[in-house]
Amino acid sequence: MPKKTLVDLHGADLRGRVVLVRADLNVPLNGAAVSDDTRIRASLPTLEYLARAGARSVVLSHLGRPKGKRADEFSLAPVAARLEEALGTDIRFVDEPCGDAVTEAVAAMEDGQVVVLQNTRFLAGETDNDPKLSNAWAELGDVFVNDAFGAAHRAHASTAGLADAVRARGGLAVAGHLMARELKFLGDALESPERPFVAILGGAKISGKIEVISALLLKVDRLLIGGAMANTFFRAMGLETGASLVEDDRVDMARALLEEAGDVLMLPVDCVVVDEIEAGAAARTVDRAEVAPGDRIGDIGPATRQMYAHEIGAARTVVWNGPMGVFELDQLAGGTRAVAEAAASAADGGATVVLGGGDSAAAAEQAGVVDRLTHVSTGGGASLDLLSGADLPGVSSLSEAD
Ligand code: ADP
Ligand code: 3PG
Ligand code: MG
Repeated sequence: MPKKTLVDLHGADLRGRVVLVRADLNVPLNGAAVSDDTRIRASLPTLEYLARAGARSVVLSHLGRPKGKRADEFSLAPVAARLEEALGTDIRFVDEPCGDAVTEAVAAMEDGQVVVLQNTRFLAGETDNDPKLSNAWAELGDVFVNDAFGAAHRAHASTAGLADAVRARGGLAVAGHLMARELKFLGDALESPERPFVAILGGAKISGKIEVISALLLKVDRLLIGGAMANTFFRAMGLETGASLVEDDRVDMARALLEEAGDVLMLPVDCVVVDEIEAGAAARTVDRAEVAPGDRIGDIGPATRQMYAHEIGAARTVVWNGPMGVFELDQLAGGTRAVAEAAASAADGGATVVLGGGDSAAAAEQAGVVDRLTHVSTGGGASLDLLSGADLPGVSSLSEAD
């Protein structure tokens, strides 16, 4: 069911009104320094739009997993400071997620101003999706904008709970610009992809991505597998995997997937192996049938890179999640780099190329191709859930479009 978005609201819905904005400002910190501000920058279009419209934006977000208690290392204060810098206007930070201090700060707001509240997860009611907490927030404003795509797979008090509470009071709950953009690219790719439609899956584990593999097999023309998850398939095929990362409890599942997949599923034909996954380890390229007992598979080999680049080059839609190897190590980064380059070239040629996953985004950044891709998702778990066809509570809770 299509949902209302920010652009469905009119000036009168926004000017002088208190708008509750759920953003995903859950950014990596190094001490009190923001080490990657991607999610902060991705939240700007909605906040700038609201400021221009004269709305009074009250921003809610979680940071880390403080488990319902106040904890200084999870304070949103440094994130709010970085947001202020990025927005280029003064914002006010309230050191409480809810309560009198918040109510007072909101009452003192001016049109176009932004207030950021303290970490919503300092309250146990947040992850418990406590309706009392959602209602306390809902009382502050008339409109709820959910822009937190990265947290859309969670039904928490400041996400789905707050949307429900605002709607129950007769207000509107709409998708922000970032949320709408994420749903447009990831959602459209899955619903009505231009073909050929190629998906690329990699990363450490098959277990977190099993549902994604099954769901994608029904939709794509090709599913290219890389990363450690390929090893579990190799084991299912009876190949030697040496000392590589293999999920023994998923081998039967991998075998079943191989049987149902036919030629849609493609696996590496060669690999780069090392004795230890560590900086400086000597790397060798071997055929996938020639992996020796002590070997650790750390990347896809050159023949595989060429084969995958060919498939990606012919695609009109590409969805990619998970690095092809241990891209953090130089000698095991080549496969991911080759796929990143092929994906970027496909996008240059007009294909829609969407990338999801925290490590994948870092790998694309490292390969220097981010600006050439159609869209890099800010969601990890949320993008995987969307790819596997699951319902996202943060989205299904929004007001329906007319
Ligand atoms: P994302 O965050 O993009 O969803 P994942 O978290 O699933 O990706 O996987 C990323 C991790 O997978 C990286 O840290 C990478 O080193 C690891 N990885 C990829 N290939 C291998 C491999 N062959 N063996 C061990 N680890 C691997
Ligand atoms: C993320 O970083 O994937 C989102 O912000 C959700 O965080 P969570 O996994 O702690 O709920
Ligand atoms: Mg990861």
